[in-house]
Amino acid sequence: MGPVANVEPMAATEKELRLRDSQVAQRKDAAAASGRPGDPANAIECRGVTKRYDSSKAGLSGTTFAIRRGEFVFLVGPTGSGKSTLMRLLIKELEPDEGQILVAGRDLGELEHKQLPFYRRNLGVVFQDFKLLPDRTVYQNVAYALQVTGSSRADIREKVPDILRLTGLATKLHHYPDQLSGGEQQRVSIARAFVNAPPLLLADEPTGNLDPETSIGIMQLLYRINRTGTTVLVATHDSAMVDRMRRRVLELADGVVVRDELDGQYAPTDMTTAEFGALLREPSPEPQRVAKKREPGDDFDEAFRD
Ligand SMILES: Nc1ncnc2c1ncn2[C@@H]1O[C@H](COP(=O)(O)OP(=O)(O)OP(=O)(O)O)[C@@H](O)[C@H]1O
Ligand SMILES: [Mg+2]
Repeated sequence: MGPVANVEPMAATEKELRLRDSQVAQRKDAAAASGRPGDPANAIECRGVTKRYDSSKAGLSGTTFAIRRGEFVFLVGPTGSGKSTLMRLLIKELEPDEGQILVAGRDLGELEHKQLPFYRRNLGVVFQDFKLLPDRTVYQNVAYALQVTGSSRADIREKVPDILRLTGLATKLHHYPDQLSGGEQQRVSIARAFVNAPPLLLADEPTGNLDPETSIGIMQLLYRINRTGTTVLVATHDSAMVDRMRRRVLELADGVVVRDELDGQYAPTDMTTAEFGALLREPSPEPQRVAKKREPGDDFDEAFRD
């Protein structure tokens, strides 16, 4: 027998080839889509999105994909692969150097500065560090999110208890953040992100600081929110969770989508939250109420208003 090929360099080459193939395919898709009107059935569409930091370092590199309304999608990839960059572009905290980002069919590059607050009302955003106001109670933290968007007191009194029930915080209304566990604090930040029932929820490593059992509860909550019709995009390093949840997975490497596994072979999308909980852990948790379905018309603001 002749000498066996050295496996290591082969693996590296394969990875590079996969990256280059993905990049070529995505640039082709982006070119084909460019100039085409946005499809309002897509919650998010990225067309050849490139974001460079410090002139050389690319956060994203020609990323092209679409997420339909109502999907639950995981965004995975090694550290530095561009997950947070994508989130920040979607929030419009950053601007792409090349390409287009469309939300609900509308090109974010065409949004005027004064429309930004209206656009952001369509987004719920959850981070790894919960960013709660330390000197306010659970109730006040969530109510604050409504106050800043000009909700009436009657509206606040109706919505806050509802969302605190949905997120499992009904008994913690008057606690301050430092009186809560990490999982409870993350529930408050999710309650705050979702109290306006935004059509799109973005979560960047929402379980990054939590233990596995607590993480399951948080993922279950995100799934429950998805069941109301909200599109959910979750960036995570938790591959065990991703494997068990069996949802669509977008994998980034060096700012390029290198894997996109679709729903088809995945778990049914009409599972109840309890069934979903059973999928994640045995035995399943206490019986879960499924939130109200989104009302027709209760959706992305028409063109994010002028
Ligand atoms: N503000 C910045 N200035 C310069 N480079 C940056 C900045 N933010 C991110 N980068 C670089 O862009 C690339 C993508 O970073 P990003 O934070 O999007 O990765 P990530 O996938 O979220 O990583 P992690 O899993 O560690 O959160 C990395 O190489 C990173 O060093
Ligand atoms: Mg990140």
